[in-house]
Parts: sequence; C-alpha cells; structure tokens
Amino acid sequence: MELSNYVKEILNIYNYYDGAIVIDRKGTIEYYYNNRKDINTLTNETTRGKSLFTVYPELTQKNSSMLEVIRTGKPLLHQHQRLTNYRNETYEALFSTFPIYIQDKIVGAIEVFLYLENREEHLNIFIMNSELTGARAPYLRNDIISVSPSMEQLKERLMQASRSKSTVLIYGETGTGKELVAQALHSNSPRNSKRFLSQNCAAIPENLLESILFGTVKGGFTNAENHMGLFEAANGGTLFLDEVNSMDLAVQAKLLRVLEEQKVTRIGSTEEIPVDVRIIAAMNEPPKDCVKSGKLREDLYYRLRVVQLNIPPLRKRKEDIQPLTEYYIQFFNRAMHRQIKDVSREVMEAFQHYTWPGNVRELRNMIESGFNLCEGDIIGMNDIDTKVLHTVEKAGTDRPITGNSLKAKSQRFERHILKEALAYCGSVTDAAACLGISRQTLSAKMKTLQITESRRREE
Ligand SMILES: Nc1ncnc2c1ncn2[C@@H]1O[C@H](COP(=O)(O)OP(=O)(O)OP(=O)(O)O)[C@@H](O)[C@H]1O
Ligand SMILES: [Mg+2]
Repeated sequence: MELSNYVKEILNIYNYYDGAIVIDRKGTIEYYYNNRKDINTLTNETTRGKSLFTVYPELTQKNSSMLEVIRTGKPLLHQHQRLTNYRNETYEALFSTFPIYIQDKIVGAIEVFLYLENREEHLNIFIMNSELTGARAPYLRNDIISVSPSMEQLKERLMQASRSKSTVLIYGETGTGKELVAQALHSNSPRNSKRFLSQNCAAIPENLLESILFGTVKGGFTNAENHMGLFEAANGGTLFLDEVNSMDLAVQAKLLRVLEEQKVTRIGSTEEIPVDVRIIAAMNEPPKDCVKSGKLREDLYYRLRVVQLNIPPLRKRKEDIQPLTEYYIQFFNRAMHRQIKDVSREVMEAFQHYTWPGNVRELRNMIESGFNLCEGDIIGMNDIDTKVLHTVEKAGTDRPITGNSLKAKSQRFERHILKEALAYCGSVTDAAACLGISRQTLSAKMKTLQITESRRREE
C-alpha cells in the first residue's frame, strides 16, 4: 500500500471510530486510543502495559474477541458488545477486530470500536477497509465447504450472480453461511478491488441506521456533522445489508428509492449524489413471511430479489456434515497446534441425527469445544456436549416478534441485545451480570421475549 493511502486510512480510522486497542499475543495492552472520555475514562497512559483481563475484568481467554482473533487468525466484523472496565464504567460498543501479522506470524490484534451511546452527537460511520485489513472479503467459492447437490447448485448460481451487478437477496437460517456467501459474491465479482462494507440492520436503532446508510450534513438535525454514509463509502463496491427485515419501514422506502435512482441524498441535504453500489441483502426469516407480516415492504422485496439465494439448513443437507467436520478439524488443528485425527463413529452418528438449529456455526462451535476437552486424537462422545445433542430436538425455537408498534420494535431490539449477551457470556448468570440485571429479571425477560437458551448464538 502506498504511504499516502496508508496515512489516509489511518486518518479514516480516527475519523470513523471512537477508539482502538492494540494487544500482543498474551493480551498485554500495547496501545489504547479513546476519543470519548465522557463515556469511558481510560487512556493510553492508564492502560498501557496492563493485561486486557485486568482492564476488563469480565473478559477471559475464552470470551475475549481479541484473543479469539489471535487464535483463529480471522477478523471479526461489526460485532456488538457491552463491556465494563475496571473503573466500573459500562458501555455498549460496536467493534471490529483484526489480527496483526509480522510476516506469517500473528503477533497481536487490534480492535476498533464505536460507542453506541449518544451517537447522534458524535455521528460516525462504520467501515471495514479491505486494503487496511488485508481481508478483502476473504471468502472465495472454495471456502464454502459442501458436497450436497443443493449447495453445489447454490454455488453455481453464486458464481453466475457474481458476474453481474444485480441485487441479491440471501435467505437462510442463522449460521447457514449468509455472510460467507455475501463475501464470496463480492470476492468473485469484478468489483473485488473495491470495498465490501457490511451493515447489520438489526443491531442499530433506526434513526441512526438511516444516517449510517445515507450520510448526514451539518445542521441536518441537532448536532449533525458532515458525514458520508455507507452508500457513498461503498461506491464502486458492494454493500451487504444483513437482517434487512429488521429495518424500519420508512428506511426501507428510502432504500428502495436509492436502489431505483442510484443516487443518495444525505439527511438534511437536497443534493443528490450518484452512487454505484451493488447491494446484497440477507435475512434469516423467510422473505415471503416477512412481506406477509408487514416487516418487509413488498416493493422492496421484489427490488431486492433480482437474484435470490436460499441457503438450506444443515439438517436438510446432512451430506455436508462430514466434510464440514473434517474441515473444522483441520482448521482447529492449525489454529491450536493440535493433531486431532477425527471424531469417533458414535459422534458422527449423533451429528447425523441432530437437527442443528444453529447450523454450520453450531457445528463449528461444537468441534471447537470438543478440541478443548479431547485429550487423545479422536474426539469422542465424552468430549462433546451430548446433553445438547439429545435435548435440543424437543426445545422450542424462537418465534419472531412481529409488528411495527414501538413496543414490538423495542422488544426486537431488546431481544437482540439479550441474545448477544447470552451468546457472548455463555450462561444466563453471566449474561445477567454483564447486562447489570438480576438473573431472575433476565430469565423473565427471556420468557417474555421467547428466547430459548438452546438457540444461543455462539459468535
Ligand atoms: N459451507 C460452509 N463452509 C465453511 N464454513 C461455513 C459454511 N457455512 C457457514 N460456515 C461458517 O459458519 C459460521 C457462520 O456463518 P455465517 O456467519 O456466514 O452465517 P449467517 O448465515 O450469516 O448467520 P447469522 O444469521 O446468525 O448471521 C462462520 O464461521 C462461517 O465461516
Ligand atoms: Mg450473518
């Protein structure tokens, strides 16, 4: 990368993010940048040289995103978490984490973050820059592991769709690989030297989402600044809109207009800016149901599904379980410097009978936890959470909260936060502590919001 580009990107980071943390392999903080002392009073001076686990007492080797990235070598993008530092200041942030390499060796990680509080006053946008991270939508067709006819066909269609600029709507249950497919669409397309930006529409309050997508001009509303939106930032490249069915209907209407006219108007401005962006949208509920229940505008649905890719759930393509298991064994062998050979025959049989509500992500996590427990070179039934394998079939699944009333919307948002906390913390007790509420309150909320623990997301 040219030096001037490098400098520009560094400035970009300072402009787009509220802060950054750099750690070494052991978790010692090497650099701490924080631009919002009103939310979090930590500074480089007070944290440098300390362990990440001292500064954030609730973090562990296991649940820390930075340590995960060091372990796996894979960046984590646009995650959402709530953290409490050792001064007992709690805040919510969106963050992306990237490994730092010297030659082939991972020497540490950098996490850049954006606080979610008082965003209106400090509006910024969230960008993954492909050049800076070296992670130029890293997935290619061959990274999608499968042998099943349904997936092979999907990959064929993916390759065809890559060549065009048509909008793509990806539908699949959680953990089926929607993000993977979206990245592969970009990586195989003629746009692959340009940015791939990704935005989860469910993770962000609606007025903020609008500003993030379309940008703002100074004076557009109280304290607004001049900021480019994701459409402008992704110009020439691809914009991935995840969970698009959670987008407010008014924002959906605006999105439709931008797609039709290929021009955006920043909030508070009348100037139309031409944009050339390929849109990939994803949702984890059947699109037609969303149209029926009024969550997705019908006109937008037809505009988005020029190409529709439906990723089948893992239970409907059991042939893929074996190759995926082999793939993840090799993957974790490399990441953890282990020499596991296989899973036992019994384990593979149990895998074949299980319904995999969390799909490929759940399989990956199950193998990873098997690695942690396994002492020999074959992962056996004792190394696997067989309780889950046997019980989950009976467990209920989350029913979507429908409607567009403020209450339904707040509930969806609250549910999103709770699910993230549960996935992140791993247990109801820890999640309650993390959220600053009692275990009973959390359990009650989970009941009201119909969150079943078995469908916790692990990533
Ligand atoms: N066919 C596959 N081959 C290899 N890895 C896969 C495959 N499908 C999914 N994965 C892996 O499973 C995990 C989940 O995939 P991904 O994040 O793309 O799912 P998703 O459909 O976007 O889920 P969600 O709706 O919860 O966001 C990732 O680690 C991804 O790399
Ligand atoms: Mg996803």
